Amino acid sequence: MSKEFYPISVKSIDNTTDDCVIISLDVPSDLKKIFSFIQGQYLTLKTMINGEEVRRSYSLCSSPLDSEWKVGIKKVPDGKFSSFANDILKERDTIEVMPPDGNFYTPIDVNQKRNYAAFAAGSGITPMLSIIKTHLASEPKSTFKLFYVNQKASTVILKEELEALKNLYMDRFEIYYFLTKQQRSIPFLNGRIDQEKLEIIFKSICNIDNTDHYFICGPEAMIHLINDYLKVAKVSDEQIHFELFGTDNKVADQKKEVLAASFKGKVCDLTIIEGGKQMTIQMEQGANNVLDEALNNSADLPFACKGGVCATCKAKLVEGNVDMLLSYGLEPDEIEAGYILTCQAIPTSEKLVVDFDV
Ligand code: FES
Repeated sequence: MSKEFYPISVKSIDNTTDDCVIISLDVPSDLKKIFSFIQGQYLTLKTMINGEEVRRSYSLCSSPLDSEWKVGIKKVPDGKFSSFANDILKERDTIEVMPPDGNFYTPIDVNQKRNYAAFAAGSGITPMLSIIKTHLASEPKSTFKLFYVNQKASTVILKEELEALKNLYMDRFEIYYFLTKQQRSIPFLNGRIDQEKLEIIFKSICNIDNTDHYFICGPEAMIHLINDYLKVAKVSDEQIHFELFGTDNKVADQKKEVLAASFKGKVCDLTIIEGGKQMTIQMEQGANNVLDEALNNSADLPFACKGGVCATCKAKLVEGNVDMLLSYGLEPDEIEAGYILTCQAIPTSEKLVVDFDV
């Protein structure tokens, strides 16, 4: 996967709700191969805002079958990139885009009859739309049940597209909309998904014994709740796929404080290998993360979310020790093989060698 950025023109910008835009990118023919993607993957966008370089990752909501590159960007309070995308970005503007990446998918098998369940909250619907559309179109016998949480009916992102899919696959696609700030006559559909609602869902709507895969995308608390429920019900890890939209920085901050106090005053020689080049810098153990320290010293390294989710900053730990604040973006076999997320890796040894080239 290329971690280079490419200048891409904005083909169109459409509002799906008052505070969420769908941006369609005009990927030129010579870049279509490098920008080919799998349902559920994301793009990292980069631009300069008030003299500062800002990067963010957004899931593709289009299907690879459409040969379109669309991302949904919901405006969040104090969100630099999301405000820029909603208020300033225009059609035909150019932004820098890194080719698609991400592991939030299960392979398509045209011959299988599979039953899928999806749980999404707010903008967590963006990769889900791509996943649902692709599986339903490519696997003619498969079914999907979507449980989707929003604040109000007017803030349901991609509602038209979801309803169009429901009409197209009436006997294979069901949607249950939950609203947290608007009361409706069916109590079950009022409020966020909790333990009680999960009991009802898995007793009356979704048969856990014949559901093959679960997709979950939204805030951390929702993901943990559903993941824990499924684990207790003996659903295997291979059947559960989740994508975090935002992480709990409090946990990372607390861990960081403890590390800073325990390693105070100790020095680490950090060697970075990237693009065949090598640089060594001195930093304090237990203090900053490897990525930020290297960027502060003018290294040119790949990164996007800086939140331990996207894995763009992944590298191999060749020598030394680090403590990871968060590591959602790594698969168990990658951790086993010695990979780290440099944006979350705090040095805890006198020498550290980190290789971005392997
Ligand atoms: S930059 Fe996204 S996990 Fe490090």
